[in-house]
Amino acid sequence: MADLDDLREGNKFGIGQPVQNQSFHIKGADNLSWGKKDRLTRIFNPKSGRSVMLAFDHGFIMGPTSGVERIDLTIAPLMEYADCLMCSRGILQSSVPANVNKPICLRSDAGTTILTELNDNVVIDIEDAIRLNVSAMAVMLAVGDPKMEAKTIANLFRAVDSGSRYGIPVMGVTAVGKEMARDARYFGLASRVCAENGANIVKTYYCDGFEKVVASCPVPIVIAGGKKLPERDALELCYKAINDGAAGVDMGRNVFQSENPVAMIQAVHVLVHENLSVDQAYQLFNDLNK
Ligand code: R5P
Repeated sequence: MADLDDLREGNKFGIGQPVQNQSFHIKGADNLSWGKKDRLTRIFNPKSGRSVMLAFDHGFIMGPTSGVERIDLTIAPLMEYADCLMCSRGILQSSVPANVNKPICLRSDAGTTILTELNDNVVIDIEDAIRLNVSAMAVMLAVGDPKMEAKTIANLFRAVDSGSRYGIPVMGVTAVGKEMARDARYFGLASRVCAENGANIVKTYYCDGFEKVVASCPVPIVIAGGKKLPERDALELCYKAINDGAAGVDMGRNVFQSENPVAMIQAVHVLVHENLSVDQAYQLFNDLNK
């Protein structure tokens, strides 16, 4: 039994100290198989070590929410500017042309919709992920949810087992349930649990103290954008996350619900890969938005 009464908060995060003994451009990937390294390199640019992942898997829990009503009209024009596409297999097969030829981070678990409680019951058959030639499988972890924590950790564990057999990395997606605190302590714990259970990428949310979340997670972290913000605020969120050590973004609504999604994804792209300031990226957005 864990000593819950002696759960001491960590304080030696080595903020600012680079990861030691690492030669590969992706955090924590030095000892992975060639296939996993190759797939991760398709996602994370070897020059910047970062990625702009475009998330449009929202329909699998929300239905045709704003911006994803018609993938062919609203999302297809954005694909060329993304480093990686994140979606469900249904949308991939029906609405993403194979000649777009972008790495795919496949939403690989499913359970319930927003109409019911947070849930997560099944993980894709690895053979289908292989048939779809995916570069990573994304699986949600509901850390701290009394009903779903064990089930979702088991899902992630199984996805890592099956992915490892075929060189396919797994991205752990930290959930934010109604009862969960959105702070560095929670996201730090949830992200670390993803990595400890074998995730090669973690998707989480930006928060105060984010540098500790990143420093204590031994694999790359990308941030979700969350609810739609004004464009400048969304760019500032990306900037802060990158500045605190994130390896990129896995962003949906703040791109496809923007007043100009094509301009927005380009602004996010330069900010992530070229270390632009918020002002410079916002200027680019405005220039492209004319
Ligand atoms: C996460 O599990 C969702 O499926 C989305 O992929 C994620 O929240 C990223 O999208 P957004 O930037 O809209 O939050």
